[in-house]
Amino acid sequence: TELSHIRNFSIVAHIDHGKSTLADRLIQETGTVQDRDMKEQLLDAMDIERERGITIKANTVRLDYKADDGETYILNLIDTPGHVDFAYEVSRSMRAVEGSLLVVDSTQGVEAQTLANVYQAIDADHDIVPVFNKIDLPASDVSRVAEQVEDVIGIDASGAIAVSAKTGQGIHEVLESIVAHLPAPKGERDAPLKAMLVDSWYDAYLGVIVLVRIMDGVLKKGERIKMMSNGSVHHVDRIGVFRPQMQPVDELGPGEIGFLTASIKQVRDTRVGDTITHEKKGCETPLPGFKPAQPVVFCGLFPVDSAEFEDLRDAIEKLALNDASFSYEMETSAALGFGFRCGFLGLLHLEVIRDRIEREYNIELITTAPSVVYHIYMKDGTMQELHNPADMPDLTYVDHLEEPRIKATILVPDEYLGDVLKLCQDRRGLQEDLSYAGPRAMVVYDLPLNEVVFDFYDRLKSVTKGYASFDYQMMGYRQDNLVKMQILVNDEPVDALSVMVHRDRAELRGRAMVEKLKDLIPRHMFKIPIQAAIGGKVIARETLSALRKDVTAKCYGGDATRKRKLLEKQKAGKKKMRQFGKVEIPQEAFISALKMD
Ligand code: GTP
Repeated sequence: TELSHIRNFSIVAHIDHGKSTLADRLIQETGTVQDRDMKEQLLDAMDIERERGITIKANTVRLDYKADDGETYILNLIDTPGHVDFAYEVSRSMRAVEGSLLVVDSTQGVEAQTLANVYQAIDADHDIVPVFNKIDLPASDVSRVAEQVEDVIGIDASGAIAVSAKTGQGIHEVLESIVAHLPAPKGERDAPLKAMLVDSWYDAYLGVIVLVRIMDGVLKKGERIKMMSNGSVHHVDRIGVFRPQMQPVDELGPGEIGFLTASIKQVRDTRVGDTITHEKKGCETPLPGFKPAQPVVFCGLFPVDSAEFEDLRDAIEKLALNDASFSYEMETSAALGFGFRCGFLGLLHLEVIRDRIEREYNIELITTAPSVVYHIYMKDGTMQELHNPADMPDLTYVDHLEEPRIKATILVPDEYLGDVLKLCQDRRGLQEDLSYAGPRAMVVYDLPLNEVVFDFYDRLKSVTKGYASFDYQMMGYRQDNLVKMQILVNDEPVDALSVMVHRDRAELRGRAMVEKLKDLIPRHMFKIPIQAAIGGKVIARETLSALRKDVTAKCYGGDATRKRKLLEKQKAGKKKMRQFGKVEIPQEAFISALKMD
């Protein structure tokens, strides 16, 4: 296909502004899928993604569009993940296309994620067509949103298109605008092959499927290709395009987006952002900006029932095959037995994997406190990474610690601003900026990632009644006064509850945790001290009083059915408890104890 007749684009939007609905409508309007085959939200393939209303894996579709000028164009849409954890993937997909549709819900306006995503599009030098969605709703206010886009983002909104992805109104104009206003790709057919690995995923029948954007040269079936990051060579056994189902083609030329398969066994062997070339007569220099994904949040996953350890291993290995950014290694905990220490791109990534293990593999899990990666500088001048507070070395060898920091952007209606500032301040944030985007305040904070990973987003939602939007990027490491805090239950340290905290906040955190645990741990026949300690020094303490025998007798005596029910309930509850010395701790305690209300 001639380059002048290709348009490659992505859709950037805040969650729920209608990206998937618009994509479906474009597919339908171009007749790529027959109406009767049109399933709602074709591009969001996985159940969990749909349930959570978020798109995780980038997907793509090739549309044939006969424009009003009588010519037929190929439009390649790349669907990008909509969440901060996947910012690197988003930035790569952006480099694979020349333009973006900026979708803004005209009943809501610009949100934090709209900003984060559109800045990535601007970074990638995209031409941008603003699309104001949901004009079928009475609350729609297109001129207000246009003003916001110009003031806050600083791009021209005069060519914006008002649409309803729901009713189909304005969709034709969107297609025309893609052809008229987005640039055609550039590339040289005669140059050595240079292709970007945009995404990859595992398919049970075909093995790993690799999504590629050809920059220069031509890729054909049967050729031998090389991944430039590690030099590995593969034989291409299939190439094609997505319409959105897979369709084989003879070749992929410059400017085109399609897939290849090459008997690759693991997604791990394909790195997003890598450059693919021919094994022989390949290109000299790779595309700029490649970096392998680095997990930033770690936590332990343990089976509630220790007999399920092998099942858990199986589940984790299978999931890792399809997710290069998820890492794991075996871990043993004195309290929890055998499990895995797992690394994730962020909290959402963690939640998705944990949910899939519980739902698809039916394994109940104990998740230990999520921890960020600390840098420990030793007195001998070496640096080591700390993924698990339980591994904290003896302090006499430690010179200092550094923790990762983020830059957070929060958009919030004015009336909640005070609560948001307080929340950020409480989490050791440093304010960097405060400005207004229409009636809403935009605050930028420098925050320790550690203070954000656990429940920051939940807290933000609750103090702003859901009206705030949030986005962040990693900023690097900084030294601070950090210590490891242990929790002792009945004088036994529970390693799964160890956390790294700032020294100034240790008492507060410690007291909150022991108070929570006191409520969460059921009473036993004996008194149980619950303590928080730094090194050998106890900084907070609660005592759970002993159960009095006659209470049970009085309550449950006599009524046989009630007694049986109670026993059954206790039995079910048992499964969710873990024994620590002589004390049983329920599963939910591990998560709840760490929340900072
Ligand atoms: P993520 O995939 O989570 O990023 O969300 P999204 O941006 O893809 O949003 P999605 O297409 O899932 O739409 C979110 C909600 O808005 C859904 O309930 C849609 O049915 C609804 N919606 C999308 N477009 C329109 C529209 O034009 N009008 C109305 N009334 N509702 C719409």
